[in-house]
Amino acid sequence: MNAIELLKEDHKKVKGYFEKVKATDEAGEQRELYRKIAEELEIHTHIEETVFYPYLIENGDEELSDLTKEGIEEHHEVKVLIREIANLSEESEKLEPKLTVLMENVEHHVQEEEGEMFPMCEEQLDSATLEDLGTQMEEEKGNFKPSARGASGK
Ligand SMILES: [Fe+2]
Ligand SMILES: [Fe+2]
Repeated sequence: MNAIELLKEDHKKVKGYFEKVKATDEAGEQRELYRKIAEELEIHTHIEETVFYPYLIENGDEELSDLTKEGIEEHHEVKVLIREIANLSEESEKLEPKLTVLMENVEHHVQEEEGEMFPMCEEQLDSATLEDLGTQMEEEKGNFKPSARGASGK
């Protein structure tokens, strides 16, 4: 599968979870959705950081390379929030605001990828390369063992 299509499908899936979080005030349901979001984001950032991003940093022009490096830092911020949420106590009132900030950060990041990074990729990489990167990311997904950080609270 084409790398960009694959990544956009992941984005869509996460967006679907976000909509469900926004539609509920029930903390138990929010936690359950958070676990799904955390797992989805863990695997998604992993395949981007191990396959897609290194290729762009190496082969993209300076603008694309810089944008990709920024992307890694944005992933880092998201991972910090995921860890913080995992460590909140069951009844913590911080769950909802932290989830909101997590969603805002991810939405901003996805906008940058879909609005800037991916169009640059389509200009700078040929379709065979995008196919190949997509295949590599699918393989990496298949091999990936989630840390279940969200689920275990560790
Ligand atoms: Fe992404
Ligand atoms: Fe990303």
